[in-house]
Amino acid sequence: MTKTISPLAEARYRDSESSTFPLPTDPSNSLPSTLSTILSHRSCRAFLPFKLPEGTLETLITAAQSGSTSSLLQTWDVIAIQDPEHKSNIATLAADQDFIRQAPLFLVFCPNLRRLKNLSEQYGHQDSPVLDNMNMFIMSTVDSAIAAQNVAIAAESLGLGICYVGALRHNADEVCKLLNLPPLTWGVFGMAVGYPDTENRRSGRRIKPRLPMREVLHMERWNEEGQKDNVASYDKALGTFYEEESKFGRKAWGEFVAGRVASQAQGGWVNIRKVIEKQGFKLE
Ligand SMILES: Cc1cc2nc3c(=O)[nH]c(=O)nc-3n(C[C@H](O)[C@H](O)[C@H](O)COP(=O)(O)O)c2cc1C
Repeated sequence: MTKTISPLAEARYRDSESSTFPLPTDPSNSLPSTLSTILSHRSCRAFLPFKLPEGTLETLITAAQSGSTSSLLQTWDVIAIQDPEHKSNIATLAADQDFIRQAPLFLVFCPNLRRLKNLSEQYGHQDSPVLDNMNMFIMSTVDSAIAAQNVAIAAESLGLGICYVGALRHNADEVCKLLNLPPLTWGVFGMAVGYPDTENRRSGRRIKPRLPMREVLHMERWNEEGQKDNVASYDKALGTFYEEESKFGRKAWGEFVAGRVASQAQGGWVNIRKVIEKQGFKLE
C-alpha cells in the first residue's frame, strides 16, 4: 500500500501527489532521526540570548569537515564570530538583520583557493594555471555549501536553529576587509546559529512548503510539462502557509519570483564580480 512517509513530507509540500510514497525501509521502523531532522528544517530568525554549550562549535565544524569535498582539495574555511561587537558590525553589512546580533554564533563560509596556491609555491611551482580556471571557483563555492549544509543539519539535530545569510554579499568588499580575508578567499554566505526563541514566530515554527516534487524531479530527461499548473498549485500552498503565519498581502510565489528577477535594484550585487576579481580569483 502506498502511504505518506510522514506528516513532515505533507508539511513540506502541502500537495498529496508529492508526499505520497512508501518509506524505503522496513515498514515497522519509524522515520530515521537524520531524515526527521532534515525534513523538519525551518530557518530560524529569532534567537534566545543563551551561549552555546562547550564543544558545540567544534562539533559543528567536524560535521562540516565530514562533508564530501571535490578531489579532497578542501577549498573552504570558516570564520566563527562570537564577539558581540564584531557580530554587530557584520550584521550591519548583512542588510542589518538583527537576528545575526541575537545569535550567539555567526559563521562566515569562505571559499579558499589560497591554501592550494601556498602549497603550489611551497612545492616549487612558478604558476598555478588551474587555480585561474572558473571551475576551481565553482568547486570552492560548492565545497563551502556542502560544508555549511552539514553544519545546518548537525545544529538542528542538536536542537539549535540556523539561518543562512546571503545578504553579506551586498557588501562583499567590506566583509573581506572586516574579516581580514586574504587573496583567493572571500565570504560567500554566513549562517546564524543559536537556540530558537520559540515564542517568536520568526523562530520558524512552521515548515515552509516547497514546489511540488513533480516540478523539480525529471525522470531520465528534462521535461517542463505542467510547470504553470505546478506553480499555481504552489502559489496556493505557500499562500496558505503565509496566512497561517499572519503574513498577509504577500504576492503569489510566481509573481514574486518574476518581479524579483525583473528588478533593476541589484543593491551590492552589481559589484560582486569586481570584488571576486579583486580578491584574486580569475574566473577564466
Ligand atoms: C545561501 C542562502 C542565503 C540566505 N540568505 C538569507 C538572508 O540573508 N536572510 C534571511 O532571512 N534568510 C536567508 N536565507 C534563508 C532563505 O530565505 C530560506 O531558506 C527560504 O526562505 C526557505 O525557508 P526555510 O529555510 O525556512 O525552509 C538564505 C538561504 C540560503 C540557502
